[in-house]
Amino acid sequence: MSRRQLRDEVMTFLLAGHETTAVALAWTWYLLACHPEVAERARDEALSCSGTATHARRPAAPAALAHGRRGGDAALSPGVGIARQAVGPDRIGGYDVPAGAIVSLSPWVTHRHPDFWDDPDRFDPERFRPGRERTRPRFAYFPFSGGPRLCIGRPSRSWRRSSSSR
Ligand code: HEM
Repeated sequence: MSRRQLRDEVMTFLLAGHETTAVALAWTWYLLACHPEVAERARDEALSCSGTATHARRPAAPAALAHGRRGGDAALSPGVGIARQAVGPDRIGGYDVPAGAIVSLSPWVTHRHPDFWDDPDRFDPERFRPGRERTRPRFAYFPFSGGPRLCIGRPSRSWRRSSSSR
């Protein structure tokens, strides 16, 4: 790896991996503080599988953290925008996209779009109960993007399966 490539890799991990996670956690704690009933449930779940707040009995089991996980999902839109530049002319959703044009997608806006979500500004972890995703278009929720440039730091499939199964 050249020094330039090393620098680029470190920058990617620092920005892609650090800032997004910090912002997601900051909003999660803020929203939990505003919704004590959700916070209480998430806390009980965490304690039921990890002992006390200071003495962990065993590593937190993802399956036991379903509610906390849904709270995180509901808070998750750190990505204000994702941009792509068209390599050639295209037509997307009825719109002409000339070569070189910048196409911008916003998880933040889409995650609050009334066409896809009921009462979209309400913090509601129950939206992320298993099976609910079938009631909305696949990309109504895309905090980690999609396609070949999908976030490499996204939760694994096995974590999502086990944490959403309760
Ligand atoms: C809540 C946390 C995170 C969110 C919301 C998030 C979101 C995203 C999004 C939306 C993209 C796509 C950007 C694009 O298509 O232009 C992306 C890409 C990426 N993320 Fe994350 N990310 C998170 C955590 C992480 C972590 C922890 C890591 C590293 C350990 C990471 C590493 C990356 C990398 C390397 C890419 C570029 C992948 C590529 O272009 O092939 N992310 N992330």
